[in-house]
Amino acid sequence: MKLVFLGPPGAGKGTMATQLSDFAGIPHISTGDIFRTNIKQQTELGNKVKAILDKGNLVPDALTIDLVEDRLSQSDAQNGFILDGFPRTVPQADALEKMQQLDWVINFELDDEEIVQRLSGRRVHPGSGRTYHVIFNPPKNEGVDDVTGEPLVQREDDSEHSIKNRLRVYREQTQPLIEYYRSRGHLMDLDASPNPERVFENLKALLELD
Ligand code: AP5
Repeated sequence: MKLVFLGPPGAGKGTMATQLSDFAGIPHISTGDIFRTNIKQQTELGNKVKAILDKGNLVPDALTIDLVEDRLSQSDAQNGFILDGFPRTVPQADALEKMQQLDWVINFELDDEEIVQRLSGRRVHPGSGRTYHVIFNPPKNEGVDDVTGEPLVQREDDSEHSIKNRLRVYREQTQPLIEYYRSRGHLMDLDASPNPERVFENLKALLELD
């Protein structure tokens, strides 16, 4: 199954993609995670994109498209994938059309108030990318990862200023993709507001994976 998860920052795309990847045995490909890994490892790419991510702006299309094309050519992505956070612009969607025939684009719907609440309470384990929320999905022991016991951190772009900018960028550059995919008959809407267990059940039902 070839899927794209579309939606505003903090809607739960990464949380659901991780669960669905385990359930369906297809890779979760997050462009945000790829950029953050490169930043952490201080690669040339990481150094180039760090300031862009910290402010909540978008990495240039050409760079992002090359990266995704390369990732989708790897053997584990041949029988399906979940693209999380790509495409985010019309040129990226046009490029993806030329690379792959998608099955579904899932449109995660969540209002701004809930988005801000989710992002400001998010904590991540930098080594693995595991994501928690101080209220909605707390770790077993406060401030540390359930698996390794290592400290959790807040993402640089989860600051109030950056969240506002990410929402603006989403409205201007990514939201037009909802109509782009709806008009092609590829889009299914998902209410992202219930608790994670319920959202996952609804997602599986949409994809007829029950
Ligand atoms: P990216 O990493 O893709 O960030 P994003 O789209 O802003 O999405 P998030 O990771 O913030 O949110 P999410 O929807 O995955 O939510 P999550 O599951 O974590 O991109 C980061 C940056 O990289 C971009 O700003 C850009 O600079 C660059 N970039 C990436 N892709 C690019 C591209 N294609 N082109 C150009 N630049 C690109 O959940 C959020 C919180 O809510 C968590 O704490 C979680 O525990 C909690 N939660 C999840 N589900 C629920 C629920 N149902 N109920 C209650 N809480 C929940």
